[in-house]
Amino acid sequence: MENTLKIGFVGGGQLAMMTALEARIISDYDFRINILDPSADCPAHKVAAEQIIGDFKDPTAIKRLAEISDIITYEIELGDVTALRELRNEGTEIHPSPETLEIIQDKLTQKKFLDQKGIPVPNFLEASNKDEIRRAVQDLGIPCLLKTRRDAYDGRGNFVIRRKEQIDLAHKKFVGKPVMVEEFVNFQKEVSIVVAKGRNEVAAYPPGENYHEDGILIMTRMPAKISKEVEREAERIARRTLKAFDDQGVFGIEMFVVNDKILVNEVAPRVHNTGHGTLEKSAFEASQFEQHLRAISSAPLRGTEIRKPVVMQNILGSKDSFIGPYTIMGANEVNILPGVHLYLYGKKEVRPLRKLGHLSVVGNEQERADGISDLSSDESNMDVLVSRARSAHSMLKVVPVGAYGN
Ligand SMILES: Nc1ncnc2c1ncn2[C@@H]1O[C@H](COP(=O)(O)OP(=O)(O)O)[C@@H](O)[C@H]1O
Ligand SMILES: [Mg+2]
Repeated sequence: MENTLKIGFVGGGQLAMMTALEARIISDYDFRINILDPSADCPAHKVAAEQIIGDFKDPTAIKRLAEISDIITYEIELGDVTALRELRNEGTEIHPSPETLEIIQDKLTQKKFLDQKGIPVPNFLEASNKDEIRRAVQDLGIPCLLKTRRDAYDGRGNFVIRRKEQIDLAHKKFVGKPVMVEEFVNFQKEVSIVVAKGRNEVAAYPPGENYHEDGILIMTRMPAKISKEVEREAERIARRTLKAFDDQGVFGIEMFVVNDKILVNEVAPRVHNTGHGTLEKSAFEASQFEQHLRAISSAPLRGTEIRKPVVMQNILGSKDSFIGPYTIMGANEVNILPGVHLYLYGKKEVRPLRKLGHLSVVGNEQERADGISDLSSDESNMDVLVSRARSAHSMLKVVPVGAYGN
């Protein structure tokens, strides 16, 4: 087929996996997905065309990925920026750019960048030792958050300081790591917008409304239940953020709604967990994964309108989970529930709070009879979907291999 493009993903987790699966249903381009991942049996290994086994930060491994790919992109932010920049300077196409990645890899640099571009963010201060942390906490007030600047995910790099006495503990937890202090935002809601930017076009999905527990995403409902004004403002800020980065690809923009205003929490230069609902074919013309491939290849983007409400719930290892090989019981029962779609990532081992899969519940035709523009105000409908997601989720049990004769 003409239009064959080999896309090299730094990272072979579930995001690369879902992108590779979606690549197969794209009719006008023949995308092949290569991956770089240290683990031979990472989630994407079964569906990738080729895999380089190596570390995301290993320049030779990234070079080898570039040798077998037309375009380099990422599913995690850990790629080595220096190696990527060298490759790009030698002519490799890389989207998002190493410059974008460099800004985003450091939460402090990222917040400063957004702030300079006039994008509203929570108040924050740099702090490089205990005294500076103490001073920053005093300036920003309690509660506030100590955040590690680099390599943070799923809330693991955050410490909420609720009392002055916790400063020592917080400092100790992240000792040796560069940190920053941020005001605690008493938000009404957390929302996010997944937005694709191609060479000359931008396509934004409607905001999702997100529920986190201990800093980790539990559930996203699309559309968010926010006023039209807040929705417009969120979209305006998402577009402005993309303009600031002046890049190509799908970006996930996490935001707080506070007093009906928007503050940007952070930006991910990749497909985003809160966008998994876009996989639902009856609700969306194209998923965020397809859009990402199109955006980085300068292929025409597709529509982002929502046709039916979707509730997405993550399937995580429990807080006190065992570590090791596991089986998920109850998948067959969940699979036969109407409107419920189960996605398991095939990770070999469970760990506490590890993302093992997700499920989506889509509203049916009857439920959308009131019309698309009212999707978000149809509260009772959304509530039904949320409780369907919860009850489907509760049917799943993560058990050690060998338990119950599995
Ligand atoms: N300034 C803040 N005020 C209140 N809650 C916050 C703040 N920053 C983060 N959080 C909460 O913690 C979650 C994870 O924080 P985030 O900075 O996005 O870290 P990560 O990189 O781990 O996703 C957020 O989604 C939000 O629920
Ligand atoms: Mg986050």
